[in-house]
Amino acid sequence: MGDTSMGDITRAVLVTGGARGIGVEISRQLADRGLRVLVGARSRDAAEEVCRGIGGSAIPLALDVTSAESIREAVWEARELTGGVDVLVNNAGVSLDGHRKTPDFDEDVLRATLDTNLAGAWRMAEAVVPGMVRAGYGRVVNVTSSYGSLALIDSGRHPAYRISKTALNALTRMLAAELSGTGVLVNAADPGWTRSGMGGAAAPRGPEEGADTPVWLATLPEGDDTTGGLFAERKPLPW
Ligand SMILES: NC(=O)c1ccc[n+]([C@@H]2O[C@H](COP(=O)([O-])OP(=O)(O)OC[C@H]3O[C@@H](n4cnc5c(N)ncnc54)[C@H](OP(=O)(O)O)[C@@H]3O)[C@@H](O)[C@H]2O)c1
Repeated sequence: MGDTSMGDITRAVLVTGGARGIGVEISRQLADRGLRVLVGARSRDAAEEVCRGIGGSAIPLALDVTSAESIREAVWEARELTGGVDVLVNNAGVSLDGHRKTPDFDEDVLRATLDTNLAGAWRMAEAVVPGMVRAGYGRVVNVTSSYGSLALIDSGRHPAYRISKTALNALTRMLAAELSGTGVLVNAADPGWTRSGMGGAAAPRGPEEGADTPVWLATLPEGDDTTGGLFAERKPLPW
């Protein structure tokens, strides 16, 4: 188990896309580890339902990562309720390519995919990382995919999705480099092919397994220096 508290201060974690799929399980596992979980979802009702299921001190937040205003309001509310966000799990993601393959190009799909999978994570980092740096402690986990690994590309399927995750991986490296020595650790986690709205019913992994690596990285203990890495099943994955 990772370090989740400092004296009598309970760490607060914000999970984007926390009301569906792997995000629900990430939220639940982090609550089980003693963190105060802020469940972000586009629908506050959906977030409230997940929080009721988790019990304890879980907090629902209305949060659309494509909207700067929504992020501002959610982060303000999070700070009011918890004092600050110590851990950010950028889990929200979309896969919009359908059966398209490169070189087919759909600009709308590319823009919408990047807006959530890359810019959404980037906006969230901009909103919460300065507070982490001031506190001298933070964990940022970007939920990526092996599809974003340049080393593992073996087809042109899911082009916008793959490219969005490759870019998210780059953002992970850049943030980690920029925050070196601040106490804020930034890593990317591939949940693996997991049963969910996105992964479908045939995926070999359940949400509990999909959540494991993101949760591990979100709870890296104080003094750990794991940063700027890409991991699947808690092991390094090639970029
Ligand atoms: N499942 C897999 O096999 C697999 C494999 C590798 C990586 N991943 C990654 O794992 C993460 C979770 O995926 P999943 O499998 O759980 O997919 P999912 O069941 O489709 O859930 C996607 C989540 O993202 C949220 N979301 C989408 N757009 C959003 C926005 N603009 N603002 C806030 N939230 C938004 C959704 O919220 P709403 O409820 O509001 O729609 C939902 O909670 C994604 O980043 C995905 O790329 C999944």
